[in-house]
Amino acid sequence: MQTMETAPSPFTPGYGKKPAIFGGHGQELSELREVFDTLDFGENHSVLVSGLRGAGKTSFLTTLQDAARDAGWLVISDDASAGLMSRVMDSTIPTLINEMTPGSRARLTSLGIWQFNADIEYVDRHRTVKPQLRTDLVALSAALEGSGGILITIDEVSSGKVRLRELSKFALQVSHALEDGAQIMIVFAGVKVSLDALLAEEHTTFLRRSREVEFVRLSAQETQRVFVETAGIGGRTIDDDALAKLVSLSQGYPYLVQLAGDYAWRNNSSAETISLTDATVAHDKAIRAVESRVISRVYGDLSDVDQKFLNAMAADEDRTKVADIVKRMDVSDAYVQVYKKRLVESGYVHVAGHGYVQFSMPYLGAYIRRQIAAEGAGAGSDGGWAAFPAPDLPS
Ligand SMILES: Nc1ncnc2c1ncn2[C@@H]1O[C@H](COP(=O)(O)OP(=O)(O)OP(=O)(O)O)[C@@H](O)[C@H]1O
Ligand SMILES: [Mg+2]
Repeated sequence: MQTMETAPSPFTPGYGKKPAIFGGHGQELSELREVFDTLDFGENHSVLVSGLRGAGKTSFLTTLQDAARDAGWLVISDDASAGLMSRVMDSTIPTLINEMTPGSRARLTSLGIWQFNADIEYVDRHRTVKPQLRTDLVALSAALEGSGGILITIDEVSSGKVRLRELSKFALQVSHALEDGAQIMIVFAGVKVSLDALLAEEHTTFLRRSREVEFVRLSAQETQRVFVETAGIGGRTIDDDALAKLVSLSQGYPYLVQLAGDYAWRNNSSAETISLTDATVAHDKAIRAVESRVISRVYGDLSDVDQKFLNAMAADEDRTKVADIVKRMDVSDAYVQVYKKRLVESGYVHVAGHGYVQFSMPYLGAYIRRQIAAEGAGAGSDGGWAAFPAPDLPS
């Protein structure tokens, strides 16, 4: 068999790492790209991107940002953490202004919002005008003169009270700017419950008309395509049996696709093809890594009661009868229904036949079973220190 130089892996395991080949959501991407080209927004002034950890939300935002920039748009990207408004107004917008064409910048000089130097570079805000994001956005949009719009992406929306209040103020400014005719697309990303909490805030009613993009997992066909085309970018092919193994291992879960692909690639990276042996080696490594990097975080995001619900489910290998969860948790049926609804809405669990639920995320059930077993075994979790308590110090 012909061998090649050791080639760097084209797979991209890691949070926020834009994949070389973006699987799924082709229709949404092409429709949103079309808005960047035509400025014909339709219902696409606001977009809500939901999904569990590692499902591909940040990558989707990055993909949109790149497409928007290519189409001549201004891009404001941030996450929903404290200080959002001032970061955007005091740092992001001045930087954007200085990157605009001289013609566009010249159009901004007469507005009295910002001060410029002789080279029409941003110097400061005019202190006479009350700084408002709304005014900034309208001015920037007008300066583009229909050659582009403004894409705003806000990642990591979380349902903390203080954060939500700040975010809703931000949203109110954006909605005013939209009313004033600014060409804006705003995209929020987070888990479903957090986005729902955002919609329930004051000032965010305009978001109820948003386009929703839900990340569950890739179809089997898209998963195959991602493996084959990503390997192709690195100049290698994948044997059929290896491909089947990688697809079923990853279950279409984006982070796992990248991890499995990466491990398989590295196992023998100078060979022309990725073989079944490579895929088999990738199997164990990828599952262990995805547990520590993804699944433990997904589980840790949940409240105690949510965790207890999932623990009660994990007693079954396959699907679980809701009535059994009621028994195992020793609470009322109504109580279990409330938590079931929430977990289904946030994508952790899905209904699997009447009166049954099942884990949506591959390997979550197995992870919980192992955690519970480890707790039961006691030792191990503390590194064996239980047998060696610290001695009392003489006082
Ligand atoms: N559509 C996709 N096709 C293939 N791989 C993808 C896709 N989207 C994301 N990935 C890969 O999955 C991993 C996780 O992606 P990303 O960080 O975007 O997830 P996320 O939903 O933002 O996670 P979190 O909720 O923790 O922020 C990365 O390794 C990325 O390269
Ligand atoms: Mg992310």
